Amino acid sequence: MHTDSLNVVYFDKDTSFDSLFPKRIQGLSERHWTPLEIARKSCEYLSVPNSKVLDIGSGVGKFCITAGFYGPETLFYGVEQRKDLYNIAEGVKNTLDLQNVNFIHKNITELDFGRFDSFYFFNSFYENIKPDLAIDTKIEATAELYSYYTDYVREQLDQRPSGTRLVTYHGSLKQVPTSYKLIDNSYNYALKMWMRE
Ligand SMILES: C[S@@+](CC[C@H](N)C(=O)[O-])C[C@H]1O[C@@H](n2cnc3c(N)ncnc32)[C@H](O)[C@@H]1O
Repeated sequence: MHTDSLNVVYFDKDTSFDSLFPKRIQGLSERHWTPLEIARKSCEYLSVPNSKVLDIGSGVGKFCITAGFYGPETLFYGVEQRKDLYNIAEGVKNTLDLQNVNFIHKNITELDFGRFDSFYFFNSFYENIKPDLAIDTKIEATAELYSYYTDYVREQLDQRPSGTRLVTYHGSLKQVPTSYKLIDNSYNYALKMWMRE
């Protein structure tokens, strides 16, 4: 952890962290952004020194920034399709001056998963099957896209080498390849730690 940092005040509680975001983004936090406690616990499992972790659908960066704060020896990357959310994530990262956190503005299908050692996934495609819960209406949301992205991520994860770590928050078992073994779970099966066999 960056214990000597003045930024520690933002990691005290979710409302403190969320105050770094514009008001509209704060209002989306409870449903769409990873709570601090979950990010911190995920970081304990994912923060292998000198490894690269990808957050698949990073939104405004709450997971990557929190994990990057608690795991300074690990590089955290987030890929996000919405430009406005990517810009906000970049802004908060720069405000907190976290050198081990990076954001990429792309669709997940344009990114080579082979560049990363471990993965975090917070049910990012759900808004395609529940458009009334969507972050906004700027992005097309369809059941076909849900299946397409889910299959794509599952296939990418399946191609990773033995020992690859994965954390899922919410979501369904269908999103995880059968080649991954459940190592641990908490929060009544909402948070799961996996490893590629
Ligand atoms: C539930 S939010 C999670 C945000 C972040 N991982 C966190 O935990 O704070 C899911 C995010 O995934 C993004 N997303 C969904 N489909 C995507 C895709 N195909 N490519 C890139 N980003 C995507 C959405 O725009 C949204 O910001």
